[in-house]
Amino acid sequence: MTTQFPRRGVFISFEGIDGSGKSTQARLLAEALEAAGYPVVLTREPGGSTGAEEIRSLVLEGDPSRWSPETEILLFTAARRDHLEKRIWPALDAGKVVVTDRFADSTRLYQGLRGKGLRDEVDQLHDMIIRTEPDITFVIDMDPAEGLSRAKGRQTSEERFEDFGEELQRKMRAGFLDLVRTHPERCILIDGGRSVEAVALDVRDRALSRLPEPADR
Ligand code: ADP
Ligand code: TYD
Repeated sequence: MTTQFPRRGVFISFEGIDGSGKSTQARLLAEALEAAGYPVVLTREPGGSTGAEEIRSLVLEGDPSRWSPETEILLFTAARRDHLEKRIWPALDAGKVVVTDRFADSTRLYQGLRGKGLRDEVDQLHDMIIRTEPDITFVIDMDPAEGLSRAKGRQTSEERFEDFGEELQRKMRAGFLDLVRTHPERCILIDGGRSVEAVALDVRDRALSRLPEPADR
């Protein structure tokens, strides 16, 4: 069987609002793919490499007004570039399946839709510095109030974005649904309002149906 992907590895991202179940599902998919014989790297953004994890604490902790959306675009993009150089590109070059909890779509929406709207700036910087898109993006859809209460239930100091509240969650949910409509070739909409197990089975089946056989890689 010939691979349907242009590079040797396969790049999978999870996107969705806070508390939608991305981290849980990214981990379960990584485990399921490993069990099926694929070499997998599980990672996350912001972060995923030493330098990017340092930027993560800068950007996720502290007062909501600490950074402007413009400054955030630069910080998230700097973190993403380091993550790509140190982890994602080497793993894809080695033929691995990379599963990441958030990637560039998060910047397109969280920074692109905040304030006066900075989507053009996000896209331009992406074209200059990142130039990499996932092969498959699972967008987990979830009621904003439920997502926020799930996210708030976690004990963490990384609450800067959760402190923007339910209105931001609603805007982001609409943005993610729009993303699925405009990028049907890579985006798969997943109903996150089901049990962890039901969502995981759905995600696994859809991933396996798109991946080449592990023996090919
Ligand atoms: P995200 O990474 O999207 O913020 P998480 O995977 O961290 O979401 O999940 C947020 C919280 O909700 C966690 O406490 C997790 O255990 C719980 N959770 C995740 N998926 C479900 C689900 N399908 N049903 C109920 N609770 C869930
Ligand atoms: P994350 O740790 O994935 O939070 P959660 O598990 O609650 O979804 O991401 C933390 C926050 O960072 C989240 O509110 C979204 C925000 N974020 C951006 O604003 N832009 C980005 O490019 C990324 C990757 C995340």
